[in-house]
Amino acid sequence: MHNITLIPGDGIGPEITEAMLVAVEATGVRINWEQVEAGADVIDKYNTPLPENVLESIRKNKTAIKGPLTTPIGTGFRSVNVALRKELDLYACLRPAKSIKGVKSRFEDIDIVIVRENTEDLYAGIERQIDADTAESVKRITRGASGRIARFAFDYAVKEGRQKVTAVTKANICKFSDGLFLEACREIAQNYPQVEYNERLIDNMCMQLVQKPESYDVLVLPNMYGDIISDLSAGLVGGLGVAPGGNIGDGIALFEPVHGSAPKYKGLYKANPTALILSAVMMLKHIGEAEASIRLYKAVEEVIREGGATTCDLGGNASTRQMAEAIAEKL
Ligand code: NAI
Repeated sequence: MHNITLIPGDGIGPEITEAMLVAVEATGVRINWEQVEAGADVIDKYNTPLPENVLESIRKNKTAIKGPLTTPIGTGFRSVNVALRKELDLYACLRPAKSIKGVKSRFEDIDIVIVRENTEDLYAGIERQIDADTAESVKRITRGASGRIARFAFDYAVKEGRQKVTAVTKANICKFSDGLFLEACREIAQNYPQVEYNERLIDNMCMQLVQKPESYDVLVLPNMYGDIISDLSAGLVGGLGVAPGGNIGDGIALFEPVHGSAPKYKGLYKANPTALILSAVMMLKHIGEAEASIRLYKAVEEVIREGGATTCDLGGNASTRQMAEAIAEKL
């Protein structure tokens, strides 16, 4: 029996969470879900969008999965998603972008893994208003966090039998901050002669990814570029509805889709549950249930390839739950 923390989230979160539970249950893996609440909807109850019992539960269970949480734009409270990653030191954001047969996209053979640094850069939230017309944000990069994420990317490449790691920065312009990130990557790369190491500037990387994405393998990036390239890569394989992710630290992990709470779909039960179900695929592998993880992935793939029982973004007319039930049936 595995103890896992479950945060349904808000917006489409509860709908896709319900669907994910249907699919995971069908694998037969025994999980004791500890459900906790976070986000804007719980502020009145707990006086904070991130109650202490959420952090306690994840620290205790060591594994968690969550639906998306809304962050107010421009004003209001800071992102709970970013706070969770920082508080729990989930320093590596792992986001695979892999083509799935049957998902309409411009490319067919994409298999990229994004390794995004998750704790610093512009996401540290060091910002200030200097006067009414001027504001500034500090882009803080450290050698320690950069080396740690580079090591994670290379270890991942070795463990998963991948050939190449590409470090992506804007070190020609941000000479100190991105320069330090790049220096750390170069240093770590020397310890992994079996893995090909390359470097790209972020602007050029964007162009290359839309022109020849099949030539890329593992990408390692500072936080902000990693965030942007994650959505770009999700677009390459068919959109946010199919893009999973995991936030990983030492001995602790929180899985979640790349997408957000998609407020326009809330309550319509037509959001695609695939990204969260594929996040559960990553979670099952992480907790040592590799066989169930592969079975669940294949079931998702089969339902999508066959068509019919998919949500509208994939061309079908199934509801969120109906798609999950079709996946469960395959299992
Ligand atoms: P979003 O990812 O929620 O939605 C953008 C668009 O992508 C949607 O309008 C929809 O067309 C499509 N989409 C997303 N998920 C889908 C799904 N499961 N099925 C089908 N289509 C899907 O991004 P947006 O609108 O920028 O952000 C909405 C809220 O979510 C914001 O408050 C943002 O801060 C939050 N957010 C939370 C994240 C998290 O919890 N980790 C990550 C990203 C955004």
